[in-house]
Amino acid sequence: MVQGAMNQNTKLTKDWLQNYVDDWVKFYWKHTKEGELPSYIPILQQANKNHLGISIMGTNGVTIESGDVDIPFTIQSISKVFTFIVACMQRGVSYVLDRVDVEPTGEAFNSIMHLEMKQIKKPFNPFVNAGAITVTSLLTGKTSAEKLEPLLQLLENILGYRPALNIDVFQSEMQTSIRNRAIGYYLVETGYLESDQLELTLETYFKQCSIEISLKDLAHLGMILANDGKDPKTGTELIPKQVARLAKSLMLTCGMYDASGKFAAYVGIPAKSGVSGGIVAIAPPRAREENLPFLEGCGIGVYGPALDKQGNSIAGIKLIRHIAKQWDLSIF
Ligand code: DON
Repeated sequence: MVQGAMNQNTKLTKDWLQNYVDDWVKFYWKHTKEGELPSYIPILQQANKNHLGISIMGTNGVTIESGDVDIPFTIQSISKVFTFIVACMQRGVSYVLDRVDVEPTGEAFNSIMHLEMKQIKKPFNPFVNAGAITVTSLLTGKTSAEKLEPLLQLLENILGYRPALNIDVFQSEMQTSIRNRAIGYYLVETGYLESDQLELTLETYFKQCSIEISLKDLAHLGMILANDGKDPKTGTELIPKQVARLAKSLMLTCGMYDASGKFAAYVGIPAKSGVSGGIVAIAPPRAREENLPFLEGCGIGVYGPALDKQGNSIAGIKLIRHIAKQWDLSIF
């Protein structure tokens, strides 16, 4: 495999970077065979386990794409980053953080156990299902359409078009959502969810998870967060800086669930995964003496539906880890 180590004299042209990324995608593709498709949302079993693709979008306007880049997929848990952002924009950060904590769990994303183990029963963070369902309940609106409107508007402001819901994926999860229902009832019991809000909240939550986007969209979302919520082309603030930074800190500590510590240690950048195989990773601008790719910051989207035991794209993690090492993306 080509190593792609950079030196001061390297000319970082798009073509030159593209060759490396193509080579790395080809190399890591074999790891898709080591993962499994999720079974608890039946329709996600229809994905092709062999797919692997990447899109990297720099704040400097350069985009590099490689592998299976044309397959739309649902954002699943990646939506939790953006509902958290919207809830903070609507209600204020302190209102949201009074109802959901900012601590990693070290447990699976759909764990119930960790809820019971804490005295005040407050969901640990907005990215485990318990915290995400709580955050979704905070979105203003009387119907799921009203609650989702500001989320879809934010995505439209960033992407330039309004993504659609994949209704088949929504229905598949709605019909099989035993664990999330259990979490919902537990939240009602502990007072973090009103009982008359349970059905509406779960419907809204499954709908936000079924928003369908492309790999380039995923990189675009990451790129805006890398730039602290500002569109680098227009200078428009799409997400308040304080909220974008809070979201990124939670992505670093909680975004990859019980693999978050390893991802922070070995990759060193904020990221968020989804059970359909997407990962968005964020390389903020960095000060380095060498001439390295995307020093001004970039968003990275990967798609690889074969998952590891934690529910993260198995080949996707390896690919991002390699790129982060080669390009010295770590924030540390
Ligand atoms: O609620 C769920 O279980 C799914 N809709 C989303 C979970 C998910 O994406 C976890 N990701 N790795």
